[in-house]
Amino acid sequence: MSDNQASLTAGGKSLDMPIKSGTIGPDVIDIRKLYAQTGMFTYDPGFTSTASCDSALTYIDGDEGVLLHRGYPIGQLAEHSSFMEVSYLLLNGELPSQQELADFSRTITRHTMLHEQLSTFYRGFRRDAHPMAIMCGVVGALSAFYHDSTDISDPQHRKISSHRLIAKMPTIAAMAYKYSVGQPFVYPDNKLSYTGNFLKMTFGVPAEEYEVIPEVEKALDRIFILHADHEQNASTSTVRLAGSSGANPFACIAAGIACLWGPAHGGANEAALNMLKEIGTPDRIQHYIERAKDKNDPFRLMGFGHRVYKNYDPRATVMQQTVREVFAALNVQDPLFETALRLEEIALSDPYFIEKKLFPNVDFYSGIILSAIGFPTTMFTVLFALARTVGWVAQWNEMISDPGQKIGRPRQLYTGPTQRDYVPLSQR
Ligand code: ACO
Repeated sequence: MSDNQASLTAGGKSLDMPIKSGTIGPDVIDIRKLYAQTGMFTYDPGFTSTASCDSALTYIDGDEGVLLHRGYPIGQLAEHSSFMEVSYLLLNGELPSQQELADFSRTITRHTMLHEQLSTFYRGFRRDAHPMAIMCGVVGALSAFYHDSTDISDPQHRKISSHRLIAKMPTIAAMAYKYSVGQPFVYPDNKLSYTGNFLKMTFGVPAEEYEVIPEVEKALDRIFILHADHEQNASTSTVRLAGSSGANPFACIAAGIACLWGPAHGGANEAALNMLKEIGTPDRIQHYIERAKDKNDPFRLMGFGHRVYKNYDPRATVMQQTVREVFAALNVQDPLFETALRLEEIALSDPYFIEKKLFPNVDFYSGIILSAIGFPTTMFTVLFALARTVGWVAQWNEMISDPGQKIGRPRQLYTGPTQRDYVPLSQR
């Protein structure tokens, strides 16, 4: 056996399997011939040890708390870049020149309007519908409106549908909000930046001029950067799995939105703020820490822990700084921030959290910022979906462009009854 092979003996058969190396990160054992040669599957529920694809987009070192997009550290991107630039980077692999960025931003801006018929679609929802339910429905419905960009074998169609998704997501999200508060939809304003436009469509009203506050625009843009992509997480894997069957991109992104909604994933930012509200004041923290540690209590500290990060989530560090900037710009305070800081401090000195390597994740502080800007908690996961759309789209494009791409089809360990004969109803 050579150095770059792993050997396995199973069921009386031995098998040499190639070990593949990426540019950084753990090597992988290529087990694709395992079933053909041994008749056995691997077993890895939750994919804790399984690499499902090759990807050149995003790299995470969870032990060191490192997150790179196309090689660039998230902290540098959050400090120096813009969401449009990071979107270009994720989609194209390199940072754009000034001209490329201007062209890309113009293209995205020109796609921000929705087909007018889609506005009537909103009226089918109850006013109190969760905006994520509306997002799932409206984004899925886009494929019924943009037939001219759903041929996934055509790179030009893929490009147009990618631009449409990134461009229209703020409009769709803002309309979901407007519908819930009973205000008229505000159309996109092409003079504004991607993020400024979203703020205006969300908080502007036709009766008044809307002034974008530059500090808030910058903070929200940074939040979008922090959420842009995150390797093969649950929603991204959902997008890839849906796309592996050849489904159109709008349907795939709707599937990603549905997956993101769950409280263990994107729904955690909403759950984290609700938890902080429930805790209320720092004197009640210890009680909730004890609950989180109690095996018989389903309560978990929301915004804490991560499948990959076993260190401080680098996005949480930036998020914590951003809270202070937004508070200063808006001249507000929120006692929940003090509660959050104290909760973090107490948890990080508690042996339970230390041993299990549970640190604040991106969702722990984001709710405090979004709430200060004026978003209701139900919109938090919508904002996550808006920003993650570029990551989903980039990952989907990468998958479709891969010549070795196959339909995703996991196997299982069957634990049901063995074959038995049907018993007629009269004899049961
Ligand atoms: N509070 C208390 N205990 C926790 C927490 C938490 N937030 N997270 C994990 N644990 C404990 C588990 O009970 C488990 O204990 P055990 O080993 O004694 O059984 C151990 O830590 C490992 O947890 P798992 O759930 O097995 O880890 P997994 O990788 O499957 O889950 C997850 C990761 C879902 C993020 C989990 O930490 C969690 O539920 N956190 C709260 C929800 C949250 O913040 N999600 C956002 C994730 S980031 C994102 O999606 C953008």
